[in-house]
Amino acid sequence: MAQKVEIVIDGKTVEMPVLEAAEGLNVIDVRGLIKEGMFTFDPGFLSTASCDSRVTYIDGDNGILLYRGYPIEQLAENSSHLEVCYLLLNGELPTQAQLDAFIGDINERMPLDDHFKHIFDGFTENSHPMSMVCAAIAGLASLFHEQLDISDAGYRKEAALQLIAKIPTISAMAYKKSIGEDFVEPDPSLNYAENFLHMCFGKRGEAPNISPTLSKALDKIFILHADHEQNASTSTVRMAGSTECNPFAAIAAGTAALWGPSHGGANEAVLDMLLEIGDVSKIEEYVEKAKDKDDPFKLMGFGHRVYKNFDPRATVMQSSAHAVLEEQGASNDPLLEVAQNLEKIAREQDYFIDRKLYPNIDFYSGITLKAMGIPIPMFTVLFTLGRMPGWITHWTEMVANPFKIARPRQLYLGEHKRDYTNIENR
Ligand code: SDX
Repeated sequence: MAQKVEIVIDGKTVEMPVLEAAEGLNVIDVRGLIKEGMFTFDPGFLSTASCDSRVTYIDGDNGILLYRGYPIEQLAENSSHLEVCYLLLNGELPTQAQLDAFIGDINERMPLDDHFKHIFDGFTENSHPMSMVCAAIAGLASLFHEQLDISDAGYRKEAALQLIAKIPTISAMAYKKSIGEDFVEPDPSLNYAENFLHMCFGKRGEAPNISPTLSKALDKIFILHADHEQNASTSTVRMAGSTECNPFAAIAAGTAALWGPSHGGANEAVLDMLLEIGDVSKIEEYVEKAKDKDDPFKLMGFGHRVYKNFDPRATVMQSSAHAVLEEQGASNDPLLEVAQNLEKIAREQDYFIDRKLYPNIDFYSGITLKAMGIPIPMFTVLFTLGRMPGWITHWTEMVANPFKIARPRQLYLGEHKRDYTNIENR
């Protein structure tokens, strides 16, 4: 029996259908409410489902994250980033033949057009890598605009392959530009994470020399970041894409949204915060600042809109961090000591417990990336690289099915209608 809810508007009982979820919360379908002369009101979308989706499921109370039904812990342990990209895009894990073909498709698309590389000439060496990556992703639209036909499955697949293939190259080139070194071309003999590390830390003309521990840890970090249902940047991709714009432009919009310190920029902000705290003796002072309503300071890497007990990705990331710190001989990194003490103190205080503020993925990813020798300004670029498959999967899911342009309404609190007055009468 289909469920429904009733509300009374001006004495009239209005029925609204309840749509049943495969997992998690059901939804009240309020699409008919406009006919009753009412909007819903939900700034920040705390109680709003913006779409239906089959890609990722999050249970925030129980710390569950599933990509196409597979638990993140199992994928992080057993899979690879490109296999997860295939899973997100196609809905099923690949056979060996399908995976080999997908890897081949990605490898052949990793090199950037020589002329296109000049996009980086427009930036100074101290430009933030995220500004370069944002611009380069939008610039990819110039390379693939003629064929633009979002209704064509072949075009959609090519756009997905191009973005997943080129984001490591673009990201590494942004890094090389920021340190004034020559670009290093992708090497198809390397796997995805190895190739990124080679393009960042290798030297032109030299053979690759990549630590298996670091490349495995980085591949795991990419898996952990691959998707997260309707987060702010993915919702931005969907909203931009709903205008039927070029997919590269929609993804560039999502990249810009990710950059904010409340979202993907938090991993960089965590390290800046730990460096500012500097020593365990100053932790209490900063924890008090975070609790002070009159102080804008927040504990970066803490809290989450959905996870209210723990972020399962942070748990995986924490174990990964220890392996990397061990290999890098950084287990006694003072920043790690500050982080561990900060987490302990925060977890014991009512302010954080009452508000269910726990470390999220960004709290430990920053420490791991720093231990891997990744420069702090590159942290959000790596989040962008990891999240690329999720963004393009959600874009594909939307445009491959009937969709409407996203056009929210508002609660208007402004002036009533009034007549223009000439300046001499004001
Ligand atoms: C990501 O959505 C996703 O899925 C995102 C992400 C993904 O994979 O795409 O998981 C990636 O963005 C993780 C989050 C990274 N951001 C940070 O670590 C920045 C620090 N965290 C906060 O900015 C905040 O916790 C958010 C943005 C993450 C969540 O904000 P909400 O859900 O809007 O919660 P809120 O701001 O309403 O906070 C509720 C209360 C408030 O206090 P009261 O007004 O109730 O007294 O908790 C307080 C807030 O002041 N609070 C914090 C805090 N986070 C929330 N206080 C101190 N430090 C913090 N970090």
